[in-house]
Amino acid sequence: MLNDIKKTISLYLKSKINLDEAQIYNLLEVPKVYEHGHLSLPLFQMAKLEKTNPMELAKNLQAQIEKEYSEKLGSEKLGSEELQSKNRINYGIEKVQAVGGYLNITLQSSFFQENVVSGILSKKQIGFSQEGVGQKVAVDFSSPNVAKPMHVGHLRATMIGNAICNLAESQGYEVLSINHLGDWGSQFGKLAWAYKQWGSEYDFSERPIDAFLKIYIRFHEEAEKDPTLVQKGTEQFRRLEEGDLETRQIWELIIKYSMADFSRLYKILGIHHKFVLGESFYNDKLEDVVQRLKDKNLLQESEGAQVVFFDEKENMPPCLIKKSDGASIYATRDLAAAIYRHEEMKAHKLLYVVGQDQTLHFKQVFRVLEKMGYEWAKEMFHITFGLYRFKDGKLSTRQGKIVLFEDILNQSMDLVREMIEEKNPNLNHKELVTQQVAIGAVIFNDLVNDRSKNVEFDWDRAISIEGDSGPYVQYTVVRCRSLMRKFGKPVKESFETLLQSPEEQKLLFRLLQLDHVLKISFNHFKPNFLAQYLLEVCSDFSHFYHAHRILGESEAIESSRMTLVLATEKILTQGLQILGIPTPDEM
Ligand code: ARG
Repeated sequence: MLNDIKKTISLYLKSKINLDEAQIYNLLEVPKVYEHGHLSLPLFQMAKLEKTNPMELAKNLQAQIEKEYSEKLGSEKLGSEELQSKNRINYGIEKVQAVGGYLNITLQSSFFQENVVSGILSKKQIGFSQEGVGQKVAVDFSSPNVAKPMHVGHLRATMIGNAICNLAESQGYEVLSINHLGDWGSQFGKLAWAYKQWGSEYDFSERPIDAFLKIYIRFHEEAEKDPTLVQKGTEQFRRLEEGDLETRQIWELIIKYSMADFSRLYKILGIHHKFVLGESFYNDKLEDVVQRLKDKNLLQESEGAQVVFFDEKENMPPCLIKKSDGASIYATRDLAAAIYRHEEMKAHKLLYVVGQDQTLHFKQVFRVLEKMGYEWAKEMFHITFGLYRFKDGKLSTRQGKIVLFEDILNQSMDLVREMIEEKNPNLNHKELVTQQVAIGAVIFNDLVNDRSKNVEFDWDRAISIEGDSGPYVQYTVVRCRSLMRKFGKPVKESFETLLQSPEEQKLLFRLLQLDHVLKISFNHFKPNFLAQYLLEVCSDFSHFYHAHRILGESEAIESSRMTLVLATEKILTQGLQILGIPTPDEM
């Protein structure tokens, strides 16, 4: 695939310029305009070093390569058929051209097909790399709060986090996916007290989590009238902390019900966490954190609380470790969790997929760990994301202003159901396909955007099969699969003839880029690179599909074009799977 091709070309070029193989590899890029060639080597950096002009450098390089070829091959012209057969002497290069400060490289057409066979058709996991083998990545994602429904922020964290897990796996890392449930804090004292008081008045058989929410709201309403309730809640929480059996049982019940509710939604999205370790898991590890901070002289008193101060130039408020009443807090738990993930779980990288409103929190936590002298804290990353903005009136919410995770899934299901009823009412497995397309729409609509920006949520766009949407990509897969069904024979995993038209060449080359896209998507923790790439594949496929007849051509051409269809289907399926999107056979 592309990264292998880049390696081959770097190997060839390294004897000709003053850069080593890795430097050339990193510089080689795919030109934005296809007509400029397949790869391009910018020579600006090198020209600076050698105090020459990049245009000169590119021209010299072109002349040098052309001379070498004509000497080796007598009068052969670059790109001739005979040359192509001459044992890779040309490293797949058909033509080089100096343009501005770049050396543009055009590769031979036969080269792509060979690569598609070896890199795509004969692979189970396409575009995967071995780079991370032997290393573990802990990904903290979704992490909702118990006794509350998940809102859109958790939906984003869940979808982005899942894609990051899959991307990490594609790079060979062992992924430790963690659900850091918010399952501890004084609110559980209030809830337990309220449950004991009023529990019998509510129905816990249908949707227990809704009943808990009602009780919680009632607690706050009654507390407005009777301030002693807050005290009672605090008292109950103290009992929970002390391990009081009854209180603990109520707390466990709340977690059980909440988890069942979360799991229902995770199942729809196909999400699985290897570890569910809520905040309470670190209860017995907090003293150790405090001790370590004391040992390193980092803990200081401030207004009765224990805090870690930062240098003035860091411009951050101190990190609160222990409140004046001795209670631990969110940050302390995250410190304990990070230490646990590094020391016990042996994770090399710690990723946190959490909204941008927690930026300060993670900055503080990471910095405290650095101050503690932990080198590994440099490998901690807060993967932030922005908010959803809805066009007015397009989303009905159950609880006033907050938009719930589930509301979005339901809305998408309703809209997709309507669309299918209208366009393809006789579809097989209608419910299943509705769910697959509805999920595809929601996930793709999110991941196609740069996660750090806010998402303008436009349902028409999200579910349209014509636009840049999940259903559009799914529809391209469906189109490929339907062609394969019509073909009626097994599709060959090799090409019978050379596909040389511009549309075919462009598509072949595009398909080969998945490995590169997966690598940069993971390196930047940005699934939108992958989503955008899949849209490009779809667009190239559509040009190919409209420019050429596939079925009903001569046998060799038909077979080769079907092989190209198969390769496209595989790339799209693999890419969507990494984003967490299922692919229906029909829609
Ligand atoms: N429960 C938190 C929330 O819903 C998110 C937790 C994120 N993970 C973490 N390690 N702090 O806001």
